[in-house]
Amino acid sequence: MSKKIRLGVLISGRGSNLQSVIEASKNGIIDADIAIVISDKKDAYGLVRAKENDIPTLFLSPKDYKNREDFDKKVVEELNNYKVDLVLLAGFMRIVTSALIEPFRNRIMNIHPALLPSFPGLDAQKQALEYGVKFSGCTVHFVEEGMDEGPIIIQAVVPVMDNDTVDSLSERILKYEHKIYPIAVQLFAEGRLKVEERRVKVLGKAAHHLGEKVLINPYLNRR
Ligand code: GAR
Repeated sequence: MSKKIRLGVLISGRGSNLQSVIEASKNGIIDADIAIVISDKKDAYGLVRAKENDIPTLFLSPKDYKNREDFDKKVVEELNNYKVDLVLLAGFMRIVTSALIEPFRNRIMNIHPALLPSFPGLDAQKQALEYGVKFSGCTVHFVEEGMDEGPIIIQAVVPVMDNDTVDSLSERILKYEHKIYPIAVQLFAEGRLKVEERRVKVLGKAAHHLGEKVLINPYLNRR
């Protein structure tokens, strides 16, 4: 088994993705420990989840900093204090600046509830539903400057049904968010992610591969 990497997880709210990483770490699915959870919201439920699992937590109030860069510099200082190898944005609803991205270039990931580059920003599931796409999903990517920007590591695709609501689609997508974030973390821990400009190559053999398989939705089944 490879040496365990140290994660810093940044959150703003519910923390269900944080929970999936906590479980994956506890169950030995990923060779990673969460060293610190940082929130920009005092009442983020994710902080409770971290405390319940004896993970150090920190609340940093954006109001205490004169601009985004200063806030991000403080985040970097804390991540370094906790000797973090990989940063995970997990429902961290702030635009991050170069002050955070540069020191962690290709060592900072984000999860987004859409098939990027479609529907970045807030309410991605609502955007997808209103646009009328027949598939949506979720994306884990390395973070670059810009909203939900950066080389894509892994995506999961889910169908959009005619009777979907924002809630039902969000729930379907979330289930797969919880699957793909731990996979991305483990690929990183194994040193298998190679960034070549926009593309992330996965070194070694994938557990499964879609090959030429395609998905069609809706499907007309003619006899
Ligand atoms: C997740 O759906 C995540 O993909 C999304 O916020 C939610 C956080 O839920 N992130 C973004 O929209 C980033 N642009 P969680 O707190 O339960 O993990």
